[in-house]
Amino acid sequence: MQTKIMYISVNSSDFDQSEEFLQCVEDLRAGELVIFPTETVYGLGAVINKEESLKGIYVAKGRPSDNPLIVHIGEMEQIWQIVKKDPPEVFWKLADKFWPGPVTFIVKKTKNCSDIITGKRESVAVRFPSNRIAQSLIQRCGIPIAAPSANISGYPSPTRPEHLEEMRGRVKWIIETEPLEFGIESTIISLLEEKPVLLRPGPVTKEKLREIIPDLIIGQDMTEAIAPGMKYRHYSPRAKIKLIPWKGDKKEFIKNGMKMIEDLRRDQWTKKAALICTDETIEMYKETAIECISLGSRDNLYRVASHLFHVLRTLDKKGIDCALIEAFEEKGLGITIMNRLKKAASK
Ligand code: TXA
Ligand code: MG
Repeated sequence: MQTKIMYISVNSSDFDQSEEFLQCVEDLRAGELVIFPTETVYGLGAVINKEESLKGIYVAKGRPSDNPLIVHIGEMEQIWQIVKKDPPEVFWKLADKFWPGPVTFIVKKTKNCSDIITGKRESVAVRFPSNRIAQSLIQRCGIPIAAPSANISGYPSPTRPEHLEEMRGRVKWIIETEPLEFGIESTIISLLEEKPVLLRPGPVTKEKLREIIPDLIIGQDMTEAIAPGMKYRHYSPRAKIKLIPWKGDKKEFIKNGMKMIEDLRRDQWTKKAALICTDETIEMYKETAIECISLGSRDNLYRVASHLFHVLRTLDKKGIDCALIEAFEEKGLGITIMNRLKKAASK
């Protein structure tokens, strides 16, 4: 399939009038696959009312069919096409606070919501993205869009146009834009039980959520069945990843890092190695002569998170065989970053 590529700048005010954009909306409505930006990561979308197109998503990504999809809405009224009437009170409370934005809710689905979206569950994942391009695309389409992250299954989610090269030929359209606001997947909360359960940490942290819902439960082992996708291999570049455990004391942390570099050199000396660190530590590692890449400053974890998948992909671009990555303290957004890093390191 010949993939058409369109670039829309976040600053563009009239992109939704262009012939190209309107053609893309029409193709999406007709059942074609479209990759579009959101504020988290790029999504690979299809309309929810065409089963063949929904199946096509799994094929294009090489995704296991029991890993359900998130449905994206472009305006609030669209939830009734997928969400069963009278969702719990807490849904309204959370949606009011966090939508549009990087939070996904698991709620009961309507009868006609396809089993292909939900993997035959009675529940559906739903999200109202804040990205203007995504909103406009879904609004104009008039039908909610089911979309997983637009990466080949198992690989880090795409956050920049160059990450979408592997999807060319697999979809009808790719809409490209500037680097995405968060660059890490949405927070997922299940509202199926009496108390809300955090299934996947994301840009909205558990601390922020607990300001609204103090009784939020943290999903015990997110690799287990509740958010089925979390059990699969995820976020892994080809390069082998090892984490340098976080220690409160910076000196101890660096000392341990140095030792791990030495060990890596000794055991894997034939391999091409790299170190992924932070602005605070990069200078100290320079003397080791190992290639160092900084994720940014520990004082700005939002930047670190938005940079993470790009850096993981860069390792493969550079032909790195093994990389050490500095861990982060597990609080606030550090929990989200560590969730992805641990998965990248667990092959
Ligand atoms: O930020 C995001 O959430 C991005 C953008 C494109 O919106 N999407 C995304 O989708 O990360 P995906 O498919 O890569 O991850 C969706 C996760 C999977 O782990 C899946 O198992 C879980 O949501 N999920 C979907 N439906 C579910 C359901 N009914 N119950 C429990 N988990 C569900
Ligand atoms: Mg994904």
